[in-house]
Amino acid sequence: MCGIVGIVGTQPVAGRLVDALKRLEYRGYDSAGVATIHEGALDRRRAEGKLFNLERRLADEPLAGNIGIAHTRWATHGVPNETNAHPHFVDGVAVVHNGIIENFSEIRDELLADGASFKSQTDTEVVAQLLAKYTREGLGHRDAMLKMLRRVTGAYALVVMFKDDPDTLMGALSGPPLAVGYGKGEMFIGSDAIALSPFTNEITYLVDGDCVVINRKGAEIMDHNGNRVERPRQITQAAAFLVDKGNHRHFMEKEIHEQPEVISHALSHYIDFTSGTVKVDTAIDFSAVRSLAISACGTAYLAGLTGKYWFERYARLPVEIDVASEFRYREMPLSPDQAALFISQSGETADTLASLRYCKAEGLKIGAVVNVKESTIARESDAVFPILAGPEIGVASTKAFTCQLAVLAALSIAAGRERGTISAAEETALVKALMEMPRIMTRVLNSIQPQIESLSRDLSRYKDVLYLGRGTSYPLALEGALKLKEISYIHAEGYAAGELKHGPIALIDENMPVIVIAPHDRFFEKTVSNMQEVAARGGKIIFITDEKGAAASKLPTMATIVLPMVEEIISPMIYALPIQMIAYYTAVFMGTDVDQPRNLAKSVTVE
Ligand code: AGP
Repeated sequence: MCGIVGIVGTQPVAGRLVDALKRLEYRGYDSAGVATIHEGALDRRRAEGKLFNLERRLADEPLAGNIGIAHTRWATHGVPNETNAHPHFVDGVAVVHNGIIENFSEIRDELLADGASFKSQTDTEVVAQLLAKYTREGLGHRDAMLKMLRRVTGAYALVVMFKDDPDTLMGALSGPPLAVGYGKGEMFIGSDAIALSPFTNEITYLVDGDCVVINRKGAEIMDHNGNRVERPRQITQAAAFLVDKGNHRHFMEKEIHEQPEVISHALSHYIDFTSGTVKVDTAIDFSAVRSLAISACGTAYLAGLTGKYWFERYARLPVEIDVASEFRYREMPLSPDQAALFISQSGETADTLASLRYCKAEGLKIGAVVNVKESTIARESDAVFPILAGPEIGVASTKAFTCQLAVLAALSIAAGRERGTISAAEETALVKALMEMPRIMTRVLNSIQPQIESLSRDLSRYKDVLYLGRGTSYPLALEGALKLKEISYIHAEGYAAGELKHGPIALIDENMPVIVIAPHDRFFEKTVSNMQEVAARGGKIIFITDEKGAAASKLPTMATIVLPMVEEIISPMIYALPIQMIAYYTAVFMGTDVDQPRNLAKSVTVE
């Protein structure tokens, strides 16, 4: 994730901005930069690599000025070099950005046709180009900002500075967080409370869709239409935590809401946004392997089970999968013409590591899908596929799960391309769907929370819950059950919807809520039949579907959660959100220790 900091100050800001960036190093980055306005001039220093290089650049060529913005960049569009480092300048406009401008390519083409010249390969530069264009056309800074925000789509946090206004910074967000800090005669803006902790502990977290104008007197927050809105100020303890909860009650809640940002981070590592194709480490040649073995534990295993559907469908690659604690004891016949993938958030799970070593001893090519690149599982693998979810503190895995899915989806597309089982057009379409995830996730997270909270209050009164799904919604049914039981302690089971009539239907009565995960896909009609079997026995249905699904089914439900229509390949990541939120809010109503559920550890390093 990139880091953003800005100061409208009463004393020189360059050094203070770099100090604040150091608080954001935990996010990971590959270049950094700072810009200030001084005596009517806009100037900047940028450097590839670590902040030390930027500090050295500033020592050689100091930057004066009491207003400035700074940035640590994790390369998404364009290689990590000084040219692509932020802040980006266009005609007196300076911009720093975290996230992805999804429609940057079309905007860039329009601006190029309009005579604009681009200096970088980044999506961010289109923001500066649009603002420069709109101000050239006579719009004031505030109107230019609002017009730009109506033009760009994606998941982003932005801070902007205009050379001819050395008293004002502007910010906006849709997805990644942005906070305003209150000082004495000075104002601050940054990615989170940690970035602002060197200056103040009095902050306001902005909300998706907010646009803020700050000067030395304070902050004016408005919506995308320019209507003033109020946001609460709070005192933060960020200085005490390396990773703080932000304005959330639990790390799990924060990590659920971080998913648009970290997913765009993960995607940027596996997708070439300019060509719309997948780019992955070629240490595993999928075209040369006879089959793929996948092994993991818990939620990571369920990500792998979802990946099995994708590898088999898009790459026509047979997949043998099992939970790690069973995998190696089955003594399945393995040979060097196979590959094996091990999925692990921590990269330290003992069962998963033991299975990896078993496969390595059999001569298989080993791939690791991990969140900790320097973990044991990563170190013992031939190919490492980082999920880039950032630190996941809550014991119940949420953002790591959806990032694992995103990486597995990218790998299955790459495997399909290498094995010639998908066309270039199919790859482009699948990648386009993946690129839309951050924006759709932001929309879903902002829309379903009140309904889920109310539903979870009801659900917390039950003792047993059943989850049903077909296709890639089946591993999600298992994940929903795992999430609910591990943090609310309510017994829950996940089942393939088609299996209902082979036993679990005996459980159905008014005391057994049944959560049905069913986008309006090729399995929908069959799943509705299962819902009718439940309804006929007085079972209570909680229906998670999309607009078409909600319109098609006339069955009475305890609740119907309607999500946007999405491409099939991203439905597991999008439908994971209500699943996670149901578990979270039910646990909150149950009063359990959401971040540290009883008997559980974040990483199980014993077999
Ligand atoms: C998930 O919510 C659980 N905390 C647990 O099942 C976890 O996924 C499992 O222990 C695997 O951990 P890992 O991803 O670090 O290997």
